[in-house]
Amino acid sequence: MRRIPHLARRTFESLRSRPLTPTEQEQVSGWLRAGEESLFWRQQALDQRHALNCAVLIADHLPGRTDLIRAALLHDIGKRHSHLGIGGRVAASSLALLRLPVPSRWRRYLDHGSLGAADLAGLEAEPIVVAFAAGHHGGVPSGVDPSDWSLLREADGE
Ligand SMILES: [Fe+2]
Ligand SMILES: [Fe+2]
Repeated sequence: MRRIPHLARRTFESLRSRPLTPTEQEQVSGWLRAGEESLFWRQQALDQRHALNCAVLIADHLPGRTDLIRAALLHDIGKRHSHLGIGGRVAASSLALLRLPVPSRWRRYLDHGSLGAADLAGLEAEPIVVAFAAGHHGGVPSGVDPSDWSLLREADGE
């Protein structure tokens, strides 16, 4: 049940999110490669906003770490597979919290980490970019610097 405050905060953030401005779109393009960009822009506006907020937090702390900035920017790329709006996401997350059966489309939302990681591995993104997409709701994977991981998790609002 520790994830309830996180779910409430993310829902509130999503409801308030606004589309990226042209200047912000240029900022994103400067960090991404061609194949990644097309995935990024296929995300819903609220996911683009969340990703940029995370990336800017990293860039403010460690401007030279483009690998971490890119990991933050791309970590939720798998959410686009479910095509779920805010209501569906809250419902899927609530069912998962209650350990109740989840329909397959909602399951894709809950599995967005592994789906996004597969997309990014296919585009040959750096290991930390793939690892953070896969495991951004969990503990530090082996081979990853714990301080890098905790900064990424903090930027994601964990
Ligand atoms: Fe996520
Ligand atoms: Fe996230």
